[in-house]
Amino acid sequence: MFDFEFHNPVRIVFGRGREKEIGRLLAADGIGRVLLVTGMGSVGRSGLYDRVTASLVASGVDFTDYSGVAANPVLSHVVTGIARARKDKVEAVLAVGGGSVIDEAKTIAAGIFHDGEVWDFFIGRDEIKKALPVYTILTLAATGSEMNRNAVITNTDTRQKYSISSDHLYPRLSILNPELTFTVPPDHSVYGAVDAIAHVIEAYFTKEPGTRLQDRLVESIILTVMESVETVLETPEDYDARATFMWAATLALNGLTPAGVGPYAFPNHMIEHALSAIYNIPHGAGLAVVIPAWMKWHAPRNREQHERFARKIFGRRTAEEGITALEDWLKKIGAPVRLKEVGIPASSIPEIAANAAGLAKVWGIEEPYCARVIEGILINAV
Ligand code: NZQ
Ligand code: ZN
Repeated sequence: MFDFEFHNPVRIVFGRGREKEIGRLLAADGIGRVLLVTGMGSVGRSGLYDRVTASLVASGVDFTDYSGVAANPVLSHVVTGIARARKDKVEAVLAVGGGSVIDEAKTIAAGIFHDGEVWDFFIGRDEIKKALPVYTILTLAATGSEMNRNAVITNTDTRQKYSISSDHLYPRLSILNPELTFTVPPDHSVYGAVDAIAHVIEAYFTKEPGTRLQDRLVESIILTVMESVETVLETPEDYDARATFMWAATLALNGLTPAGVGPYAFPNHMIEHALSAIYNIPHGAGLAVVIPAWMKWHAPRNREQHERFARKIFGRRTAEEGITALEDWLKKIGAPVRLKEVGIPASSIPEIAANAAGLAKVWGIEEPYCARVIEGILINAV
């Protein structure tokens, strides 16, 4: 066990119908006006928007609507949101949606206090010193953003999909009602499952060996996500499966599983962000393509842990059998596993690798992840 600090301050309010409490919860915190951040319309179609605004009105909380957050949120929309939040002097940001909406809300919350370009935070030119409180009502189980300190935004001018991390970005409170995910379409349930699995395997494979509690936490999350997403795909309104899936995805990236494992890296995410930056594909779809390709490259470098994965998750013996079993399972649930399945030609590999190598530098993992190595990994996905 390595030394660590673990402090996750997010208050989770979990259960059926709990979004109706949002007005009361905000008012209890002394919040009188929020920026209400939403996506491209799913919250309107489901009736959630009406329930949330009715709750705000009933508790006397004013709101400024800010809709139109794109899946893979973009910097230009963040910048307009900051201006709107400043103009209306909001006291908090309320995100109602999936990871994209929450990430944009977090970035607006930090950007409002920054005089320069908010992109400075993403390229390490400035540091987040303060943010408005962020509240979330989650509608899609995937990213863990509802209980973590990260946000990911795409700069479409530079084609960079980069992230920020800061203790100031932890939401103050997140409402998780599994019923709100009943309407998530099958493809996005699949992408969410892949993302949650990706979040736990990054450290599992790249850390030093020998932290068995953390290994077992990861294996438990993977097995739980696999089982619950299969049920969700068969029965989208199975409350227990949606609830289990939702909480597992939250725990997958809230700091719990890597606590005590020492140094680790996020190489699959580094490569995937380049795919999404250039081709604007869903994050979980890109990960499903990258992960088996990366595992084929990485298995000889940490054979023992890849064999453990094969054994514990799929009851197989060798690392290679484990990777094949994972690919088969991804195919079974309808995830893409090759670049061409997400519309990316093999001829783009050098461009993607160069883009990913740029992010590798920002994340301090340019060794071993130079463009040439990343190209070699991506060739496994052709
Ligand atoms: O925009 P709306 O209309 O809301 O539609 C969304 C969107 O089209 C829809 N959706 C969401 N909830 C729904 C629903 N449709 C029906 N019923 C519901 N209840 O689903 C689509 C995808 O939503 P999005 O928020 O983009 O998905 P997700 O939660 O997977 O978020 C992806 C973003 O998060 C980033 C990704 O890179 C990507 O930009 N990530 C954020 C992380 C973090 N903050 O910690 C970590 C991750 O590794 C990831 O990078
Ligand atoms: Zn992810």
